[in-house]
Amino acid sequence: MKKILVATEKPFAPAAVNAIRNVVDAAAGYELALLEKYTDKAQLLKAVADADAMIIRSDKATREVIEAAKNLKVIVRAGAGYDNIDLQACTDNNVVAMNTPGQNSNAVAELALGMMVFMARGCFNGKSGTELKEKKVGIHAYGNVGKNLARIATGFGMEVYAFDPFVEKAAIEADGVIALNSAEELYKTCQYISLHIPANDKTKKSIGKAILSTMPEGAVLVNTARKEVINEDSLLELMEERPDFKYLSDIAPDCKDVFAEKYEGRFFFTPKKMGAQTAEANINAGVAGAEQIINFFEKGDVTFKVNK
Ligand code: 3PG
Repeated sequence: MKKILVATEKPFAPAAVNAIRNVVDAAAGYELALLEKYTDKAQLLKAVADADAMIIRSDKATREVIEAAKNLKVIVRAGAGYDNIDLQACTDNNVVAMNTPGQNSNAVAELALGMMVFMARGCFNGKSGTELKEKKVGIHAYGNVGKNLARIATGFGMEVYAFDPFVEKAAIEADGVIALNSAEELYKTCQYISLHIPANDKTKKSIGKAILSTMPEGAVLVNTARKEVINEDSLLELMEERPDFKYLSDIAPDCKDVFAEKYEGRFFFTPKKMGAQTAEANINAGVAGAEQIINFFEKGDVTFKVNK
């Protein structure tokens, strides 16, 4: 029996766990093990010891975890961003790392738009707010989430712009989105900016005052990507200088106490990363993860491999 461990500090919806279990049970020779809501690393290290495969979310798959998993052949990040996996450690230990791109992207896009509505309506404080219709939204990186956000924002009657150096302009424009040539142009043009860049060595701390200060009056930055892409010191300087500037983030920045103390009404942070926290996204990403693992073992399929 090959053991597939689902290790989720932030658990999937119960319906998703059932759906994963059904996939695993339907394939002969596999069993499911579950480690949910674990509170310390020791629990994870123990659970991975005899796992042949693993499904994780934002759980940290460090070198220590990979090396403790002596039988591990494949690890799937049920989601898009795999900055939580030590890819080099996977490669060094002959472990294939995969993600499940696109499976939770609608959920994240809905949250981004939902946060925009929340802020446009003064955090639902009962006072007169503004509408999103005819406002300009700039999508920074046009992957699966960006594409879904473009669809939803178009439905709201927003003017949708995007910049992504890795996507053909024609592909962006095919969605009725105005493709711009640079991030600078995007930020200068749009009152709302929604971040969908991954966290890597190039993007970490890349978004700060220099580019944000060029945004138009009433600027709102929406971050459902990663908190690490923000230069927080620089953002705080901007919050001080531009009383019209607002920041919405799916997961609080490290400097959240400063926001709480000084910028009431100009920010909203989710208590836990919840962009992908819907039953649908959990089912899509979890089932895709389980199927990818079985296809890997049965057919050698490495379609979604992300390490070298
Ligand atoms: C992702 O990269 O797919 C999202 O950030 C979702 O992360 P989560 O599975 O931890 O909610």
